[in-house]
Amino acid sequence: MQTMIGVIGGSGVYQIEGLEGASWVKVPTPWGKPSDEVLVGRLHGIPIAFLPRHGRGHVHSPSSVPYRANIHALKSLGVTDVVAVSAVGSLREDFAPGDFVIVDQYIDRTIAREKSFFGPGCAAHVSVAHPTCPRLGAAAADAARQAGVKVHQGATYLAMEGPQFSTLAESRLYRQWGADVIGMTGMPEAKLAREAELCYASVAMVTDYDCWHEDHGAVDVAQVIATLTANAGHARALVAALPALLGPDRAPCPHGCDRALTHAVMTAPDK
Ligand code: ADE
Repeated sequence: MQTMIGVIGGSGVYQIEGLEGASWVKVPTPWGKPSDEVLVGRLHGIPIAFLPRHGRGHVHSPSSVPYRANIHALKSLGVTDVVAVSAVGSLREDFAPGDFVIVDQYIDRTIAREKSFFGPGCAAHVSVAHPTCPRLGAAAADAARQAGVKVHQGATYLAMEGPQFSTLAESRLYRQWGADVIGMTGMPEAKLAREAELCYASVAMVTDYDCWHEDHGAVDVAQVIATLTANAGHARALVAALPALLGPDRAPCPHGCDRALTHAVMTAPDK
């Protein structure tokens, strides 16, 4: 199978440069319109599809991002590996603004989003015990190192509904729970990617210390944007390093991401 990389860009990442033969394409889906058109092209010979999660101009809030349409669109274009970039707050001292974090676990506290492709008519229960792809995560970590950025490999992401940032009591609670970073978009994206049998890696860019850190003020949007702007070059360099690390030919996922539904569907085939 041929590798096709899907990149979901988060806050501050609305474009990727240097794609050969790039064009924005409309991708209709049974779940409605994706966040935006998808930028399709090639990077170092490998096909890439880029989708800005919030849309160009940042028109979708975390709760209104059409997560199902986005994952469906990438899958229908032939994407095999999804690298999802997002901005996060840090819940620990040693994850500083500017650092990149390869997330491998989540605590899902989102409450107002469609979280599954399954439902009435077809019941399925997919394992998300290990919700990201270790092979793709390792490649994303190598790409981040090549981009010259400090990277932490392995972290738990607290997905909150938003749109407000956390209260101080919540921020302290999430630290006690063992969460390392906090953001508003990691879920249900990762769960849906697993249901779609896609390899999925989450690259979180730390923009702030949320509000728990006594030496730092409470997070605000200006702080988030300033750190993201300073890091935009690193995110671009990370994406540029991925094709050489993944290669053009994709063997079956050693962790089974591409076969996740094999033992998941409960509904009888004739129903
Ligand atoms: N995105 C960036 N920083 C954040 C924070 N502190 N909380 C939630 N989402 C964020």
